[in-house]
Amino acid sequence: MIINLKVWRQDSPAVEGELVSYQVEASEDMSFLEMLDVLNEDLIGKGEEPVVFESDCREGICGSCGLMINGQAHGPEVTTSCQLHMRSFKDGDEIVVEPWRADPFPVLKDLMVDRSAFDRLIASGGYVSVNTGAAPDAHAVPVPKPNADRAFDVATCIGCGACVAACPNGSASLFLGAKITHLSELPQGQAERDQRVVNMVGQHDHEGFGGCTNIGECTAACPKGIPLDVISRLNSDLRTALRHGR
Ligand code: SF4
Ligand code: FES
Repeated sequence: MIINLKVWRQDSPAVEGELVSYQVEASEDMSFLEMLDVLNEDLIGKGEEPVVFESDCREGICGSCGLMINGQAHGPEVTTSCQLHMRSFKDGDEIVVEPWRADPFPVLKDLMVDRSAFDRLIASGGYVSVNTGAAPDAHAVPVPKPNADRAFDVATCIGCGACVAACPNGSASLFLGAKITHLSELPQGQAERDQRVVNMVGQHDHEGFGGCTNIGECTAACPKGIPLDVISRLNSDLRTALRHGR
């Protein structure tokens, strides 16, 4: 299949970028990133600069491969960009490939953005401060199955940032809600529960992420199916913490 690409090229955060047209011969069995690999081999062969994009696991686990593909975060399927396959497109299609568009995720080069705002969000409270010591006996701290299941489901968030890129407000509420809900469901998360939500929401706003207005684009774009109601948990934990005078 022949694919007509328009790819965002930008040398550095300080300069303007632009869409540049390329043609690539791909197979429908290739992943989207393999198709970009073919483009880069062509460019290198011609002595041109390859397109910079991020990837690591290429298995939908690490969250590093976010791309806006024809205006949709991770493209037309509900999956990560690395797990998107060219069979989702047709011979002769035009595909526009851009980086995440959100102020807290500045473009570093071409399709790669700086997502360290998410790292700072986690550092502000997305952890449990315990000295783990020796391995505890299994079931020493009982966790009811519904809570364990819910904690596990939301812990599947891979921090890809698609929720932010899809949100018209550039809000990270789905990401934040997933992290808050994960720890709020577990006994180990209770000691710091109030302080955690206050600190993380403060950091979220400090980083320049927008507020949630219940549009729902985040959950529609999320490759891990994180549900919108984690944002209700986020808001309810914040209200409780403020009532406790945090
Ligand atoms: S909530 Fe979903 S879209 Fe947002 S960072 Fe986590 S996995 Fe990615
Ligand atoms: S490269 Fe790891 S999730 Fe896509």
